[in-house]
Amino acid sequence: MVRGLVDRESFVVGKPVSGELFYGRKDVIETVVNSPGNSHALVGIRRVGKTSILEELELRFRKKGVIALRVNIHDVIPFSIENFLNAYTTAVIDGYATVSKRKQLAERIKEFLKGKLAGVSDLIKSAHIETDAVRMWFEFRQGTQKDLTQLMQDVIAYPEKLAREAGSRVVIMIDEFQELQKLGEDFMKSLRSNMQKTKKVDYVISGSSVGMMSYILGNPRSPFYNMFLAKRVGGLDDESARRLLGRLKDFGVSLKGNLEKEIIVRTVAMPLYLQAIGKISLLYCHEKETKSKRGCIINKEEFDTVIWRRLFGELYFHFEQLESYLHGKSRTISEVIAVRKVHAPSQIAREAGMNLTSLPLYLKQLINEGFLEKREGGYYFTDPVFEEWFVRKKTIS
Ligand SMILES: Nc1ncnc2c1ncn2[C@@H]1O[C@H](COP(=O)(O)OP(=O)(O)OP(=O)(O)O)[C@@H](O)[C@H]1O
Ligand SMILES: [Mg+2]
Repeated sequence: MVRGLVDRESFVVGKPVSGELFYGRKDVIETVVNSPGNSHALVGIRRVGKTSILEELELRFRKKGVIALRVNIHDVIPFSIENFLNAYTTAVIDGYATVSKRKQLAERIKEFLKGKLAGVSDLIKSAHIETDAVRMWFEFRQGTQKDLTQLMQDVIAYPEKLAREAGSRVVIMIDEFQELQKLGEDFMKSLRSNMQKTKKVDYVISGSSVGMMSYILGNPRSPFYNMFLAKRVGGLDDESARRLLGRLKDFGVSLKGNLEKEIIVRTVAMPLYLQAIGKISLLYCHEKETKSKRGCIINKEEFDTVIWRRLFGELYFHFEQLESYLHGKSRTISEVIAVRKVHAPSQIAREAGMNLTSLPLYLKQLINEGFLEKREGGYYFTDPVFEEWFVRKKTIS
């Protein structure tokens, strides 16, 4: 029998995961949680699991009594320095409420920050440290005493004050950090210099555009050069991948023979693919309506002809999006490697109709963006499933 899909969340494809549905990443989680005084950067391609790590870190930090919060850049609308600082303050107030237990006060301050609350003088009169946030924003909005530079200084320094008051560290996580570059170079410089002044605050940032991240983190001319310890995020470790697929058994579905191992190799244990395969397998077994007491067993042939094929439909938008990052020569090079299976630079150049001398620049860029890696014998896709997407498209068109 195959157990129901509704009584328990089975597999999650798309949304970030944490808690029970979060697998692996022990190394990065332990490193970040146990190294107070350091700031970290999670760097990885799209959908590799960066936001999930941040969500899990938030849970783990909070369990330890650390004030942890996430600033979501996609919530900053319209995208401006002022709105970013507003979102930052809101997140800090929320994070602090978890230790101060003054949830109601936090709610009132958040209303004020949204510009919705009258009766500010009441709030300002209260002696709690949270209301400093009201004061700095009130002065800014009055336009008399503060400009944006001053506000930024106050906002970034504010968590440090809360940390001292609470006698705890503060960890601030900023997802999609590279987006901040849109606010301009002066902003980035000022952000860095203000962040550096906070001693009891650690930062964890993440970014999906690997090239941009390595520029922000690794270029001596970048204001954030050397500020973060960079951690590359890739596939899961084998054991965690096995446990993730093992969830199928909870629903009465099993994979025959070496299938589990084969899936881990073919997906390089990328959690998105494992989750999608789990979900598709479960649905497939429901379609089959297996009546056997042993449950639904998926064999190699079913896997190849049904499950694996459906993976490309299930994740159509994911692949389309990955592909949209590739333009011009980068796209041609990727297609040539995927479809013609050539890996040595001389062969790639020939097949792509390019001059060998101009090739290294593109290869380097594709490596920085996380698409390719250099191995013995040449250049290979880091994500073999995305590589197969190219092959499938070519055979169709
Ligand atoms: N540790 C994990 N355990 C299990 N599944 C995971 C894990 N990390 C990621 N996933 C799977 O991968 C998907 C994408 O994860 P997530 O949104 O965290 O990635 P991301 O790198 O932040 O993506 P984006 O580039 O879109 O922001 C999730 O929906 C989930 O299916
Ligand atoms: Mg994300």
